[in-house]
Amino acid sequence: MSTIREMLRAEGGALHEQVDATFGRYALQTRPHYTAFLQAHAQALIGLEALLERSGIQRLLPDWAERRRTEVLGEDLQQLAAAPPEPVALERLLDEGECWGVAYVLEGSRLGSRLLDRHAGESPDEAVRDARAYLGHVPPQGAWPGFLQRLDEAGRDARLHPAMLAGQRLAFEVFLAAGQRHAPAVIAC
Ligand code: HEM
Repeated sequence: MSTIREMLRAEGGALHEQVDATFGRYALQTRPHYTAFLQAHAQALIGLEALLERSGIQRLLPDWAERRRTEVLGEDLQQLAAAPPEPVALERLLDEGECWGVAYVLEGSRLGSRLLDRHAGESPDEAVRDARAYLGHVPPQGAWPGFLQRLDEAGRDARLHPAMLAGQRLAFEVFLAAGQRHAPAVIAC
């Protein structure tokens, strides 16, 4: 039988592709695109982190405080003198399964962030290179394998699976919408 992580990966593959393609349109080495990229991520991530906290993520992940990236993202925007966007407003609370699904997307997004951090770090623009606290955020040691272990333990209760998958969908869709909303105009060549 598959683990919930395997199910999430399988179900989330198409959404991840869309998110990847959407954010691939931002030329991260240029200041306007990098700023728009951070604004899109801030809109999604800050809203989702607040939602997780209101829904009790600290009970599921005791080291949550060291995982959250709301502050560092705000610092990067401030450094770039960019307006912080209105975070996406999600009124209702998440149940436990949905919390796991949303947290999986947020923690998984770090895998892509590492590549993007390297890319932005090669920008000729010093302002971009100096505003990488979000992409370069380092979670506690072993955060990803530790997260997956907890996720899979929680996922032994198959009754949580539909909510876990729904949480994943919600989080990817929030990122996708923010990515599309802030997308820079395509530069004609
Ligand atoms: C241009 C942007 C992105 C790139 C280039 C990218 C790239 C990657 C890469 C290379 C992996 C590792 C795949 C593997 O080891 O098999 C990954 C995993 C993942 N990414 Fe992204 N990613 C991007 C954006 C995002 C965003 C914005 C999110 C969330 C909103 C996200 C969520 C995930 C998740 C949940 C996984 C984990 C899958 C798993 O191993 O269980 N990614 N991504």
